[in-house]
Formats: sequence, C-alpha cells, structure tokens
Amino acid sequence: MNIVKVKLPAGAARAYDIRIQPGLLDELGRQTVRIAGAGSVVIISDTNVGPLYGARAERACAAAGLRCELLTFPAGEEHKTIATAAKLWDGLAAQSVERATPVVALGGGVVGDVAGFVAACYLRGLPVVQVPTTLLACVDSSVGGKTGVDHPVAGKNMIGAFHQPSGVLIDPLLLASLPQREWSCGLAESVKHAVALDAKFFRWLASRAEQFAAIAARPASEVVRQADTLAELIRWNCRIKAAIVAADEHEAGLRSLLNFGHTTGHAIETLAGFGHVRHGEAVSMGMAVATRIAVGRGLVDSALLDQLLGLLTRMNLPTAVPAGLSPGEIIKLTTKDKKVRGGRVRFVLPFAMGQAKLFDDVTPSELERAIRP
Ligand SMILES: NC(=O)c1ccc[n+]([C@@H]2O[C@H](COP(=O)([O-])OP(=O)(O)OC[C@H]3O[C@@H](n4cnc5c(N)ncnc54)[C@H](O)[C@@H]3O)[C@@H](O)[C@H]2O)c1
Ligand SMILES: [Zn+2]
Repeated sequence: MNIVKVKLPAGAARAYDIRIQPGLLDELGRQTVRIAGAGSVVIISDTNVGPLYGARAERACAAAGLRCELLTFPAGEEHKTIATAAKLWDGLAAQSVERATPVVALGGGVVGDVAGFVAACYLRGLPVVQVPTTLLACVDSSVGGKTGVDHPVAGKNMIGAFHQPSGVLIDPLLLASLPQREWSCGLAESVKHAVALDAKFFRWLASRAEQFAAIAARPASEVVRQADTLAELIRWNCRIKAAIVAADEHEAGLRSLLNFGHTTGHAIETLAGFGHVRHGEAVSMGMAVATRIAVGRGLVDSALLDQLLGLLTRMNLPTAVPAGLSPGEIIKLTTKDKKVRGGRVRFVLPFAMGQAKLFDDVTPSELERAIRP
C-alpha cells in the first residue's frame, strides 16, 4: 500500500491519507469505517461510473456493516451545476443523513467536485471520502479540497467551497475502463505538476511517455499489467499536490502555481463548449500558450518550450489552440477568470524546468502572439 499524507496547517485533526492500492475498491467499507466511523454512507456517482463500479462499492460497504445508499447524476461537465447539487441534496434529505454520515465520491473530477460541494453545504459539512476513477481525478482533483459547480454566466467552478476530504482511496485498476481521450487529461495535469514544480518528475515522465500512451490505447489489458507504473505516476503527483496544499491550503500564494496552463485553458474549454475540448486538452494548449509567453519575455529559452511540446505530443495531447476559436474571445474570457485581481490577469509562467512564478502584467498583445504564434 502506498500512502501519501496531506498535512494541513490547522493541525493533525484535519490531516488525511491518500491510499493508492490496486483492488482498494473492495475495501471501501472497511476503509470508510476507519476514516469516518460505523453507521451509514451515501455514495455519489455518475451514470457512467455508477453502473460500472456502484454495485461493487455497495457490496464492500455492506460487508463492513454500513447501511449504504447510491445516488447517481447524469455524467458530464454540463451537469456540474447547482441544479444537480440541489437534486443530490433532495436525495440526502430523503435519507437519514446525520452530521457524521460520510459521502463517498465515486467518479471523475466532476463527481468529486459536485459530491464534495454537496457534502460541504449539507448540514454545514459532511465528511467526504474521495474515490477517484479517472486519471485526472487520481492525480489532481481528488486531493486538496476544492469543490464546486459551474455557473452559466460566471463560468467554471465559480460556485464552490474549500472542503477537504477525510480520506482519498485510489484503486488504479478502476482506470481499466477509462476511455482513451480521458487519459490525456490526467497526463496533462501530470505535466503541469512537473513543469511548474518538479524537474525530476518531468524527466521521469519524459522517459515513460510512450509507456503511458500504450496504457491509454489499451487500458483494459495494460492497466493490470502496468499497475505498478500507474501507481507510481499517481503517487508522484499526489506527493507534489499534497506538499502544495499543506503549504497553502486556500491559495494565498504557492498553490496558485497549480494554475499553470489554466488561465487560457479555462477560456478555451468554455469557448469550445464544455465537452468539446476536454479539460486536460485545454490545459495542454494553455501550458503551450503560457510557455510561449515565457519564451517571448526571455524567462526561458525555446529549448524548454520544445521539451514541453515534445512531451505533450508524445502523450497524444493537443498543443495548438483550435483554429475556430478567436484569440480576441479567448483574451476577453481570460480577463473574467477567478484568478483576476484588481482587473489584472494573473498568469503562471515557467522560468526554468520545474520552477514557475505568478505574473500579473501579461498584456493582451503578448497573449495574442502566444495563442497564434
Ligand atoms: N477540484 C480540483 O482541484 C480540480 C482539479 C482539476 C480538475 N477539476 C475538475 O475536474 C473535472 C474534470 O474531471 P474528469 O476529467 O475526471 O472528468 P469527468 O468526471 O467528467 O470524467 C470523464 C468521463 O469519464 C467517465 N468515467 C469516469 N471514470 C471512469 C471509469 N473508470 N471508466 C469509464 N468511464 C469513466 C465519466 O463518467 C465522464 O464521462 C472538471 O470539472 C475540472 O474543473 C477539479
Ligand atoms: Zn485542471
């Protein structure tokens, strides 16, 4: 069993473990009792993951003596809404949910964010156990306590709360059913961690790019065969994220480096229409844009940009902003991002491999040149 600890500033009580182990889903009940105590549990999932793993999760909970209810909502970013959250609150109200009843978020980043938000608000905070089932959720979204839903006008993740999980249980074997396109999303967030924070991790990733592309192409057989490599990939990401979250839980400074690639990424994702460009694909394009800005400023030389573009391409990630999207619209939307402070757009730019910094003086023309080089 691989365990990564997330130590939070306010002391040991809120610290939690990320456990990474093939087959962990079948221990869900035992682990939930360990994390949150006996009684009952509500599992929240979506209409893709629920049918795949819901019954196994319920069996595992029943085997540990937990009363268990499974609530599902329609899969997809377009359902990451306050309306979905409201239906889930109705579902919780129909059960005998108490302050100590844990919510298990069984799914990708959308389920994790929605279920986490639902739990954050209900009875002013139910414990959450994150059980991520996409690579993106394993390497990024299940750790760190950001939860929320999208708003039709304000944009992605604009309604939300910080609500740390009480535990994160990662079973890499659940990735065996993950569609190929979803793999690239998790790989993009991994590259983000590497370029912004850990040069050694970048070299590790670069030496295994083809291996990960092969797993993505045939997960049904490769996930089992390469379970150790996958667990190592996940562990490396979780260690990086855990350290950042421990140092800066509420994104006062350091944590904002995790937004590398996300400023334009979010704008691209929104403009293309949720679902047309996947989150990780947009982040991949956003990292290319940010790194081009860094090259334009002389912060890094073009060799670093080549390294980044090379790795993303070997991982089958897109790096060019789609021709159909207007740079003007992207720039306009960028200035509406949550990370805007005092009207200035804040950009994370690399200044060496594994090192990045926040800038608030990127001009529209710099951005435009980086979008259409
Ligand atoms: N909270 C955070 O810190 C944080 C960080 C990064 C991203 N996010 C959010 O995460 C979301 C993206 O997450 P995602 O990429 O996991 O998307 P997702 O949850 O929509 O999952 C992608 C698709 O894969 C399906 N799926 C999930 N697991 C599966 C499995 N094991 N087998 C087969 N199909 C499976 C889902 O039903 C969905 O159709 C975005 O909303 C983003 O804003 C949050
Ligand atoms: Zn992201």
